[in-house]
Amino acid sequence: MAEFTLPKNSKIDNKNSKTFSAPQDAKNIQVFEVYRYDPEDIEKKNPHIDRFEIDLDKCGPMVLDALIKMKSEQDSTLTFRRSCREGICGSCAMNIDGSNTLACTKSISDCKSKVIKIYPLPHMPVVKDLVPDLTHFYEQYKSIKPWLQASEPSNPNKERLQSPEEREKLDGLYECILCACCSTSCPSYWWNSDKYLGPAILLQAQRWIADSRDEATAERLDELEDPFKLYRCHTIMNCAQACPKGLNPAQAIGNIKQAIADRKA
Ligand code: SF4
Ligand code: SF4
Ligand code: FES
Repeated sequence: MAEFTLPKNSKIDNKNSKTFSAPQDAKNIQVFEVYRYDPEDIEKKNPHIDRFEIDLDKCGPMVLDALIKMKSEQDSTLTFRRSCREGICGSCAMNIDGSNTLACTKSISDCKSKVIKIYPLPHMPVVKDLVPDLTHFYEQYKSIKPWLQASEPSNPNKERLQSPEEREKLDGLYECILCACCSTSCPSYWWNSDKYLGPAILLQAQRWIADSRDEATAERLDELEDPFKLYRCHTIMNCAQACPKGLNPAQAIGNIKQAIADRKA
């Protein structure tokens, strides 16, 4: 359901902002403005923005390197997710310099603004600082049954073979790391995420629909043939622009719509 006023305690209130200065001998300083929110801090009920000055001569090249430096040297309470540090786990997704992307693969030198702003992924409830609550996103993922459904039980001694052409149909789908950059940049998902599955989950649904080894294609399409789950996509294409892995969820959504249309013809 669309909400046109900000929920209570979500407006930025900078009376609690702090500046974390770089060491006095620093010569190559980059300023970052970072969103801070701690639901357990009852004094500072609303989020605020902190300013971190980072000496780039003593920092790695990526935005995640800067965040790790802020946490290790300036404010240990700064909270964000990260794991692999190489664009594989999807956990460091956040909004950097105005775009959703992965902090570990976003180079500081590629940021366009003089002061680099770092916010959590938009339109998601915030757990703390840069950590969004992805509970609903993962519930939606579960709803598409993201596993192989086949009548023949799995047998460790027998592979389920595919031709090279069948395997190729999974290209552009299997690479998705479920970072949620696309869904949280999709206006339709912002307004209807309670019912619309959004680009990430629909791309994952297509990953199983396109899999020649899966036998539940008809049931999967039945589940998706719904005015909200699928047809809230209006091909605005923000999702393809946002994807840090270069995938095209809008095309995957188009392919699902086409498969539904084809079976009616
Ligand atoms: S193409 Fe569809 S899924 Fe992608 S941003 Fe637009 S409405 Fe959202
Ligand atoms: S399609 Fe791209 S942006 Fe969307 S969840 Fe997958 S990897 Fe992330
Ligand atoms: S830390 Fe894994 S994708 Fe960035």
